[in-house]
Amino acid sequence: MNKLTIKDIDVKNKKVLIRVDFNVPQDKDFKITDDVRIKAALPTIKYCLDKGASKVILMSHLGRPKGKVVDEYRLTPVALKLAVLLGEPVKKLDDCIGELVKKDIEEASERVVLLENLRFYKEEEKNDAEFAKKLASLGELFINDAFGTAHRAHASTEGVTNYLKSAAGFLLTKEIEYLGGALNNPKKPFVLILGGAKVSDKILLIENMLNKADEIIIGGGMCYTFLKAQGKAIGNSKLEPERLDLAKSLLDKAKEKNIKILLPVDNVVSDKIDGTGKVDAVGENIADGLIGVDIGPKTVDKFCEALRNAATIAWNGPLGIFEVDAFSNGSRKVASFLGNLSAIKIIGGGDTAAMIAKFGLEDKMTHISTGGGASLEYMEGKVLPGIAALSDK
Ligand code: 3PG
Repeated sequence: MNKLTIKDIDVKNKKVLIRVDFNVPQDKDFKITDDVRIKAALPTIKYCLDKGASKVILMSHLGRPKGKVVDEYRLTPVALKLAVLLGEPVKKLDDCIGELVKKDIEEASERVVLLENLRFYKEEEKNDAEFAKKLASLGELFINDAFGTAHRAHASTEGVTNYLKSAAGFLLTKEIEYLGGALNNPKKPFVLILGGAKVSDKILLIENMLNKADEIIIGGGMCYTFLKAQGKAIGNSKLEPERLDLAKSLLDKAKEKNIKILLPVDNVVSDKIDGTGKVDAVGENIADGLIGVDIGPKTVDKFCEALRNAATIAWNGPLGIFEVDAFSNGSRKVASFLGNLSAIKIIGGGDTAAMIAKFGLEDKMTHISTGGGASLEYMEGKVLPGIAALSDK
C-alpha cells in the first residue's frame, strides 16, 4: 500500500486521534446488539496503548442525528461496551470539540477517551475546515480505522488529514488488502456471488466485476429481473421493470467477455414474504401469485459446483430472504459449502455479514468486511475519500 499505516508511525508519548466506526445497532434499551465493529477496532487501540501513546482519543458517529444533539444517539453505551471489551476504563466526553474537551482529555486519568457523536455537529458531514481543525487540535497524530465510513468525505475522515500526519489502522489496512488488493488483482479463477433485493444497487459492481470475475452467480431478489430478461415466468417475484433492458445488456456483455453468469434453475416460492404463507419448491418458472423467496436445491448444487475450484470468492448480497428461517436454506447451504473451501473468501455488505453471523460461519471466512456502503463502493472500484486522504508513504 502506498499510504502510511499504523506500523509506519511512532505513537510513543503522542496523543493519537483515531477515527473509528462505532455506528452499531442498539435495541430500545440501548443494548448493543452487534459489537463486531467495536471488536474490530480493538487491535489498533491496543497497539497504540502497548506502544506507549500518551492518550488514545477515539471519535465516531452513531446514526444520522442530522447536526443536532439527540440523546438516543449518544455514544455512552458504546463507551461502556468498549471498556468491557478492552478490559480498562474509557472516559466518555459529552462533546467532541472545544476547550473543555481539551481540558478533560488532559486531566483524564484514563488512557482511552471517547468523544461524543461527531454528527451532533452539522459541520462533520459538511467536511467543514474549521471543525476539522478543531478535531485535529485534540491529537498529534491521526489514525483512520473507520472503514465503514471511508466512503464519506467528512471532517473526521477527510478534513482532519489536512492538519495531522495520517495513517491507516489495522482494520482499515486489512479491508484495503482484501477488498482492494485481493479483488482488484484476484487469484483466478475468481467467482463472484451476488444477491440482495435490487439490481439497481449492484449495477456498478457488476460492471466493474465483468472486468475481473470468471463467473458471476446471481440469486436473491435481484435475480428475478435477470430471469424475466431471459424470458422466464417469475410470478409475483421482485421485478424492476425499468432495469430489464439493463439486465439484458449485462447478460450480453458477460457473454461477449466469456464470463459465465449463473442464475437459479429452481426456486423456493411462497404467497407471502414474511414466512406466514405456504412454501413450495418449483422449477425454473414461477406461477402467477407466487413469489420467489430462495434458491431451490438444484440451484444450490449448481452454485456449489461453480465455487468448488475457485481460488478467490467474493460474496455481496444474500441468495434469499435469509431472515426468515424457511427461506434461508439456499444461502445457508452455499455459505456452509464455502466455509469448507480453501479459496480466499471475502464477504462484503452489511446484510451478507449478518447472514454469515446468523449461520455461525464467521471463522470460516478469510475476511468479513465491516463496511456496508463502503464495501460496495470499494468493490465497485471507486476511490474512497477516507483512504485517499491518508498521508503517502
Ligand atoms: C455504515 O453503517 O454504513 C457507516 O457507519 C456509514 O453510515 P452512514 O451511511 O450513515 O454514513
